[in-house]
Amino acid sequence: MPSGDNEWWRDAVIYQVYPRSFSDSDGDGLGDIPGIVSKVDYLDNLGVDAIWISPFYESPLLDGGYDVTDYRLVDPRLGEVADVEDLIDAAHAKDMKIFMDIVPNHTSSAHAWFQEVLHSEPGSPAWDRYVIKEGKGANHEIPPTNWQSVFHGDAWTPLVLANGEKTQYWYLHIFDSSQPDVNWENQEVRVEFESILKFWFDLGIDGFRIDVAHGLIKDQSFPDIDYESIPEQELLGDPILSPFWDQDGVHDVYRSWRKLADSYDTPRVFCGETWAPSPERLALYQRPDELHTSFNFDYLRAGFDAVKLKESVDSTLLNHKKVGAPATWVLSNHDIVRHATRMAPGQSDHPTEMPTPDNADRGLARARAATLFTLGLPGSTYLYQGEELGLPEVLELPGDARQDPVWFRTQGREIGRDGCRVPIPWSGDVASYGFGPCENSWLPQPDTWEHLSVQAQESGDTTLNFYRDALAQRREEQATGDGEFEWRMDEFTHPNDAILAYRRPHPTNPLTCIVNTEDGMWRVPQSFGTDVLISSGPEVAVVDSGDGEHLVLGPETAVWVRN
Ligand code: NOJ
Ligand code: MG
Repeated sequence: MPSGDNEWWRDAVIYQVYPRSFSDSDGDGLGDIPGIVSKVDYLDNLGVDAIWISPFYESPLLDGGYDVTDYRLVDPRLGEVADVEDLIDAAHAKDMKIFMDIVPNHTSSAHAWFQEVLHSEPGSPAWDRYVIKEGKGANHEIPPTNWQSVFHGDAWTPLVLANGEKTQYWYLHIFDSSQPDVNWENQEVRVEFESILKFWFDLGIDGFRIDVAHGLIKDQSFPDIDYESIPEQELLGDPILSPFWDQDGVHDVYRSWRKLADSYDTPRVFCGETWAPSPERLALYQRPDELHTSFNFDYLRAGFDAVKLKESVDSTLLNHKKVGAPATWVLSNHDIVRHATRMAPGQSDHPTEMPTPDNADRGLARARAATLFTLGLPGSTYLYQGEELGLPEVLELPGDARQDPVWFRTQGREIGRDGCRVPIPWSGDVASYGFGPCENSWLPQPDTWEHLSVQAQESGDTTLNFYRDALAQRREEQATGDGEFEWRMDEFTHPNDAILAYRRPHPTNPLTCIVNTEDGMWRVPQSFGTDVLISSGPEVAVVDSGDGEHLVLGPETAVWVRN
């Protein structure tokens, strides 16, 4: 398993910290960097190899910090640069790596660069750092294109100067109007972002997750989009075949970034947040002179569906192999409904109502099975804070507590992503459940979370202990991580193709993962043996039906066996 060597990222388990919601050291209700430092032992004990921290830069926090005003400062509410140095030291002392988030597609509108736009004449050099275009129509009252924001509504806003003077121009914001898109055709922009990367690399950061990695380059002919004919992207709702996504020119940026990362004695590493239209297009970002890895959202969209999971694993492995890159796998993050809720029977990717208690239990059982299935696949895996506690999505937040720009831009028609960002319960029986020294937290926690806290799950057959065991087992196994993989479904037939089984070959310690996605028991063929290493749920038995011993796998359960 990874440690010290330069290839650690090929098979690492990386834990995502959403800093506002992880641990609050000073009681202001916002998680902060000293809070993360205080939990490094917890993460070490959980058994992860690296920590990725969502943005902590100086920011108005209108999009949770993905709206940056200064890329070389920490937001004062979250700490200071010296705290990041402490965090790097604390993590490195435990042999854990630290990833930060870089947000290169847009800045905050409060960033000095955009403020310079608002204080200068149309067409001044400052304007060229952003995507600014004249409006259409006799009075320039029509946006330059019909592009829609990922967060809903027009992706263009009229540019009004700081002195109140209206202009003929509009600025592009693929996300919120407080997040103007940067112009990557401008050389100064390229130089500045590499200098920012260098600033943090020099401080000891091991790598960056790149926000909206597929979005930097826009089709310079600025065509309108025929929204009717473009397939919708399932989770975030924006079309993935757009003149502002996955343009070929984006690869030049990453070739240059890779040279910088490789110039360090311990080469630094990138993981792109890359929503590509196909596994083939995704693999292009992982060519040997570009990004080391990218998120694999195709897998995340497969749900708890054996046929879809198999298709996604097949195409992902095939396409990554072509470029010699390891796959990455992820089931939850800060933008998506938590997988314990999303996978509950009858739920969609955008649930509006909590599952019934029975279905919520099944959702958690499925989530645990999916996690065990994922942890055995070749490549690296990302975990999102709180999934190790089996946290559900929180759908019932009061409107006045919600902070996601999606909620505001849709006038509440869409609840947005706050439900997966509720602060972590660490201990105790009342809010903030040890999140901070006071009872306040920036989003309210449900009053039913006592049994989900870390403290409550320290002992017994809990989801936290299941994650600890699974990660410890993954480390111990010689066959996990990046390497060989083969399906084993040719050893049985199942009427609904609802069982998946794969082997990670090894001369002495081969590992097989079997997952039963159905709501019934399944008799495992004898060829799989009975040597269970770990199971995602309680119902796994060795039975002798008269013809020798075999395993019986409970409903919606995964196991690893030595075979
Ligand atoms: C993707 C991030 O994960 C999300 O949280 C953010 O809102 C958008 N990029 C815009 O930066
Ligand atoms: Mg705080």
